[in-house]
Amino acid sequence: MQYDVTVIGSGPGGYVAAIRCAQLGFKTALIEKYDTLGGTCLNVGCIPSKALLDSSEHYHNAETHFKEHGINLTNLKVDLKQMIKRKNEVVGQTVAGVDFLMKKNKIDVHHGLGSFIDKNTIKVTPASGKASEIKTDKVIIATGSKPSNLPFIELDKKRVITSTEALNLTEIPKHMIVIGGGVIGMELGSVYARLGSKVSVVEFLDSLIPTMDKTMGKELQKVAKKLGFDFYLKHKVTAVGVKGKNVTVTAETQKGESVDIKGDYCLVSIGRRPYTEGLGLENVGISTDKAGRIEVDEHLKTNVDNIYAIGDVIKGAMLAHKAEEEGVLVAEQLAGQKPHINYLLIPGVVYTWPEVASVGYTEEQLKESGRAYKSGAFPFKASGRARASMDLDGQIKVLADSNTDEILGVHMIGPRAADMIAEAVVAMEYRASAEDIARMSHAHPTFTESFKEACLAATENRALHI
Ligand code: FAD
Ligand code: NAI
Repeated sequence: MQYDVTVIGSGPGGYVAAIRCAQLGFKTALIEKYDTLGGTCLNVGCIPSKALLDSSEHYHNAETHFKEHGINLTNLKVDLKQMIKRKNEVVGQTVAGVDFLMKKNKIDVHHGLGSFIDKNTIKVTPASGKASEIKTDKVIIATGSKPSNLPFIELDKKRVITSTEALNLTEIPKHMIVIGGGVIGMELGSVYARLGSKVSVVEFLDSLIPTMDKTMGKELQKVAKKLGFDFYLKHKVTAVGVKGKNVTVTAETQKGESVDIKGDYCLVSIGRRPYTEGLGLENVGISTDKAGRIEVDEHLKTNVDNIYAIGDVIKGAMLAHKAEEEGVLVAEQLAGQKPHINYLLIPGVVYTWPEVASVGYTEEQLKESGRAYKSGAFPFKASGRARASMDLDGQIKVLADSNTDEILGVHMIGPRAADMIAEAVVAMEYRASAEDIARMSHAHPTFTESFKEACLAATENRALHI
């Protein structure tokens, strides 16, 4: 078979790249080693985690907030089996949607491990049956990432688990010890904390979600404490032991004191590593950096001139929407267009409740770069909309250039921040000033009024409702 473009990996990077290639008239193939399409994001990432976050949030609200709303429930209990079943159904429907999109766009899907024979020939080896060969003009590698681990931790995938197993537990842990207070640790930790587990987070650095603006980590820690989380910040894990159903995580403080934390499950969520195993990169001479990422230039081209790479397998944020943008960029370049990605404006979201969302520069980055900036913040406790729904935790912080008032960064922790950040992305894409936003009418009562108020605060410290 001869194709114009072959995409290896069907995650959000790969399947979106394939769709855009097909839209642009290329004869396109998609190779996926698993039976289902959609990659990490749809099968064991974004979608299943959000499904469980929603279910557990319903339970938590029913248990803790409904009474205040005048709704009394008796015999409330969690049916974890049903919760996981619903999550699996959501995943099933979503991945079936990708199958449909492939057919609609006349993309040939080949299930099996894709491996380079040479720069225009890829071998596809299915889990069972005979291998075949594909001939192709261009290749887009979108093979994604896998969970990282520490050399001394044995992931038995029963008691010492990654996010993949944490999405499929058959019981609610009594005490889940989470190694790594990043995005996965806080999202999946929240799921089980809401369902009644004690959750302890062991984090090497001095704050949670450390890649985001520091205020966000501090605020998130406060609300997570209310949910019953325990935190061991500035602790370095030195050992993880399992005896039957018991797990002991040993960590060291900065002063060298050793702490033993005992639980029944340990979730290792210390980041993810690019995945290139079995791809046969050596057969085409494609290089990877120290972290195992495929090296690409500004056009996302590798050192082989017809082979490109996108998504988690290259540098940059490991986010589904970043992978998608890159898939579109490569497809359009192949068609002779001149697309562009503004990486500064790729938003980041943590789907805890309250949600955390962020775009642009953090305050720490601005300080480090020496840029003159001003800051305005508005707390949700001063929002009428937030009072109505009792979502009073959190704030929106706007950072703007001291001289021009251009918005440089927006960081929010609060109700529906995941959706609200889109307004900040639009504002920054059009290089709005804080005053531009402050002068736009925001419907009342909405959570988005808090963004306007934070912009007013950043403009001349003239927020109206505080
Ligand atoms: P992937 O989605 O990892 O897909 C790669 C695909 O390539 C896989 O299907 C793999 O089987 C296949 N493959 C690999 N090697 C080969 C080969 N040799 N031949 C054939 N196929 C191959 N991001 C967000 O933006 N929002 C979220 O809410 C979010 N939540 C997440 C929650 C969890 C628990 C996890 C783990 C991740 C989450 N992410 C989230 C991150 C997101 O899943 C990734 O950034 C995204 O999936 C990367 O897309 P990708 O296309 O680069 O790779
Ligand atoms: P992460 O990079 O978000 O967090 C890892 C955390 O582990 C960091 O806080 C880090 O300081 C800490 N850590 C590293 N080594 C450690 C050690 N030895 N001991 C203790 N702590 C240690 O990675 P995470 O949570 O595993 O997620 C992986 C990726 O998946 C993220 O980069 C994120 O981009 C993506 N993801 C995105 C989501 C979203 O967009 N909502 C949800 C889940 C994952």
